[in-house]
Amino acid sequence: MSKINVSTLRKMKNEGTKIGALTAYDASFSSLFEDNGVHVLLVGDSMGMVLQGGSDTLAVTNQDIAYHTKCVRAGAPNTFVIADMPFMTYSNVADTCKNAALLMRSGANMVKLEGGEWLYDSITALTQQGIPVCGHLGLTPQSVHVFGGFKIQGRELEQAQKMIEDAKALEKAGAQLLVLECIPSALAKQITDAVNIPTIGIGAGNQTDGQILVMHDLVGISAGYIPKFSKNFLLEAGTMPAAVKKYMTDVASGEFPAKEHEFN
Ligand code: KIV
Ligand code: NA
Repeated sequence: MSKINVSTLRKMKNEGTKIGALTAYDASFSSLFEDNGVHVLLVGDSMGMVLQGGSDTLAVTNQDIAYHTKCVRAGAPNTFVIADMPFMTYSNVADTCKNAALLMRSGANMVKLEGGEWLYDSITALTQQGIPVCGHLGLTPQSVHVFGGFKIQGRELEQAQKMIEDAKALEKAGAQLLVLECIPSALAKQITDAVNIPTIGIGAGNQTDGQILVMHDLVGISAGYIPKFSKNFLLEAGTMPAAVKKYMTDVASGEFPAKEHEFN
């Protein structure tokens, strides 16, 4: 497959070709994911939970993400790689640019920030200085202590409308991709229709432009807990490459996520 970039992703949205993404943290798995046609890899701060064993993502540092981005890039030289900006590394524009630069120099193609309109100036500055940005709305795990737990977001009308406005603001600021996490499927569809940039969902139904899963959830080894929105693809596929292929096929066809993985 030819190299994927922000233009390819936009084209996929416009043509209705679903984007299949997975988290990755090391070279062995990123190589396997690249070989099996995964479009986008995310070096997620979910590493705070699945790699470091924490109960949330707050302990992850920019150095952690930089290190794992290098590992992922080494195994997947041709895949589009997004690096998460960790908790409190993008509180002001200057810090944001400095911290994002390290992630880009470590091999990322794009950085991801959690939040809405308040990120406007940071996203504009990053984009102006050559750093592509992915937004992240809905259940943004870095705010888990504000939410009072890992709870579905956007169920109330006012909150849903605010999220649509936030999505538009992120696009206007220059964001070129948007992750939507744990929101009602109908809201995810509304946001996907309201912006021109591709949306990637997790626990957001099958009407987004793409899907992402934490790789540990794909193989059913997330510390004894399988979230409602995920599926153990290894169980039926039998081998790791077959599981990844099945995930990509099911995302492409819209078979995954199914009704049972959705929130209403
Ligand atoms: O850190 C992560 O893995 C993420 C995805 C769940 C979107 O942000
Ligand atoms: Na994350």
